[in-house]
Amino acid sequence: MLILGIETSCDDSSAAILDSERGILSNIISGQDNIHKPYGGVVPELASREHITNLPLVVDGALSAVKCAMGDIGAVAATYGPGLIGSLLVGLSYGKAIAFARKIPFVGVNHLEGHLLSPFIEEGGVHYPHLGLIVSGGHTSLYSVKGQGNYELIASTRDDAAGEAFDKVAKHLGLGFPGGKTVDERAKLGLPGAIHFPRGMARREGFDFSFSGLKSAVVRYIEENGIPDSETAMNNLLASFQEAVVDSLVDKIEKVVERFSTPMLTMSGGVAANSRLRAKLSSLAENKGFTLKISPMKYCTDNAAMIAFAGY
Ligand SMILES: Nc1ncnc2c1ncn2[C@@H]1O[C@H](COP(=O)(O)OP(=O)(O)OP(=O)(O)O)[C@@H](O)[C@H]1O
Ligand SMILES: [Mg+2]
Repeated sequence: MLILGIETSCDDSSAAILDSERGILSNIISGQDNIHKPYGGVVPELASREHITNLPLVVDGALSAVKCAMGDIGAVAATYGPGLIGSLLVGLSYGKAIAFARKIPFVGVNHLEGHLLSPFIEEGGVHYPHLGLIVSGGHTSLYSVKGQGNYELIASTRDDAAGEAFDKVAKHLGLGFPGGKTVDERAKLGLPGAIHFPRGMARREGFDFSFSGLKSAVVRYIEENGIPDSETAMNNLLASFQEAVVDSLVDKIEKVVERFSTPMLTMSGGVAANSRLRAKLSSLAENKGFTLKISPMKYCTDNAAMIAFAGY
């Protein structure tokens, strides 16, 4: 059976075709970074209007990439939430209309379930049980995944999401929006120990995360010292900030795997693309002897392949 996946929860319009036998056949994404860049964040009304224009094009693109037509589709899966309500409505209504007109099943998919299962897309099936970390623009959450649809929240952020911290710091430094990828690339050229920033919740009990104290510390540093005027100083600042984000995530995960003695941990969401986080979590997995499954890069940020997969 072919399943059409649709994702419009934020500012990416995406459509994917999943074959129940062969896996993902196509996954087309149309981003809106240029539309929102001048505002330093996503403008919901602009996002939903862009989806209206772009979604039909990405759906056609996903179908024609695999030389099939709407008549070949056996089911539709679309994100129903969480996300920007206007953006969600576009993809949800579009998907429901196709399913209704063609008399095929429609499945509403939770966006976070899409992220959570994305590390398994290329395997075809999901391994249970495991612990699943979602680190995205809106969420930093750790789930105990016991079976299909059986998810228990173990920890989440008390304030900002990890991706939000990357974006806010980048914005303060005039590095554009969204900032995660730029920070990652420039941090590779800097010294992670150059400036010491706080590791959120490090001394607190429990497994929750926190990133707003770190963000404020970076903003205070910029207020006191100004925006770095050399490439080297900027790269050192970014590397030091990124190290604090990565350390606070990895240190909490270490406590969690000790407590739950898990055989497998997964990581998904946009920040899972971060090279330093991928490297440090991989070393932790090696030291502690658990299997680490990270979403393939192309399935870290928002995409319809993960929605089609979770829907299936
Ligand atoms: N290499 C990277 N390093 C760090 N952060 C990154 C990297 N690449 C992308 N990001 C961050 O990932 C976030 C986007 O991820 P994603 O699309 O999964 O989030 P979202 O859909 O906005 O949020 P949610 O899924 O919680 O609703 C942005 O905050 C972006 O800065
Ligand atoms: Mg997302």
